[in-house]
Amino acid sequence: MKVAVPTETNKDEPRVAMSPEVVKKLTGRGITVVLQKGAGAQSMIPDDAFREAGAEIAGTAKTTIGTADVVLTVRRPSAEQLKSMKKGAAVIGMMDPYGDASDFDAAAEAGVQVFSMELMPRITRAQVMDVLSSQANIAGYRAVIEAAETYGRALPMMMTAAGTVPAAKAFVMGAGVAGLQAIATARRLGAIVTATDVRPAAKEQVESLGAKFIAVENEEFKQAETAGGYAKEMSDDYKKKQAELTASHIAKQDIVITTALIPGRPAPKLIDKAMVESMGPGSVIVDLAVERGGNCELSKPGEIVDHKSVKIVGIANLAGQIASTASSLYARNLFAFLDTMIDKESGELAINWEDELVTVTNLTRDGEVVHPSLKPKEPAA
Ligand code: NAI
Repeated sequence: MKVAVPTETNKDEPRVAMSPEVVKKLTGRGITVVLQKGAGAQSMIPDDAFREAGAEIAGTAKTTIGTADVVLTVRRPSAEQLKSMKKGAAVIGMMDPYGDASDFDAAAEAGVQVFSMELMPRITRAQVMDVLSSQANIAGYRAVIEAAETYGRALPMMMTAAGTVPAAKAFVMGAGVAGLQAIATARRLGAIVTATDVRPAAKEQVESLGAKFIAVENEEFKQAETAGGYAKEMSDDYKKKQAELTASHIAKQDIVITTALIPGRPAPKLIDKAMVESMGPGSVIVDLAVERGGNCELSKPGEIVDHKSVKIVGIANLAGQIASTASSLYARNLFAFLDTMIDKESGELAINWEDELVTVTNLTRDGEVVHPSLKPKEPAA
């Protein structure tokens, strides 16, 4: 069996879908691993590190993936890459399943079996494969580092001979994986941290990290978590109450980190222009949801917007800012999933099409787009 890792074609993607550690695990099972030359360069993993771990290095995308049984990627493969792949190959990566679906038609046409890691069910067995968690955790940490860098003052309280420096006040909106890591990081840096979420389960988690929880805790809030552990889209009435509650709070904050997401929906708008304008000069908002439309009305993807001396950081792919760490965790997530597809005796690819992990993540199979969320809806009778 051959596993291939091409260089990412998106220039804004510094991560790589392999690490030397995972190369060792795969080659230890008699599996050939091929990486495209320079695939790990932006993650600070040189070709030699992969070679020393037992991988082969190929010169082009075509020679890397042309005969591979499995292709591992960070983002969707390009149309060119799809054409170079062997029919029947499994392609596993973060496929942005709710984004433009036309690429999946091309993947089906190429006869490859595409798997989207973001759709991995949040069950105990699949925790080690949870790319949303591994990458969100890093992004949450990095968001605070970005905020600290952009904020022109100190975060911790300092008592010096020259006087006392007050601690910065940080508010984290959305206390999922990224938000909880942001809370922990901001606390470690000495900020006074508060947080909000629409899921009741978040309250205890926020408090266990030593931050204060602020939310509209009505009946709707008590029902806001789906069976999968995600947030539901809240009613307009709830959003209005939430905005009223958070508006006065935001006005007193130095740093706001927003991480609120709802799967398959645009990010909820939590901070409007007036709220931004209520913040003091030099305050910072880091919008982690910027790629999904943003939690702040004024954030722009890839930009740091300066609005009346409040900086709104909209850096996309924050996990990619710490590419080396992000890649090594991502590669482990991929390995854990791939491991379930390898026949223990023969070491060959043996996908169990009945396995829940496979059925839930599989987008294309045998020339067709098969995922229910991507199929055209049947007209109502
Ligand atoms: P996410 O990335 O989809 O959303 C981030 C956060 O935004 C969530 O906590 C969500 O409740 C919150 N949010 C949505 N709308 C909001 C609004 N209007 N105002 C404020 N906050 C809002 O979620 P994430 O981080 O992927 O995980 C959510 C939860 O899933 C985790 O906290 C955890 O409980 C659970 N989880 C379970 C895992 C497992 O069982 N294997 C693994 C990882 C997470």
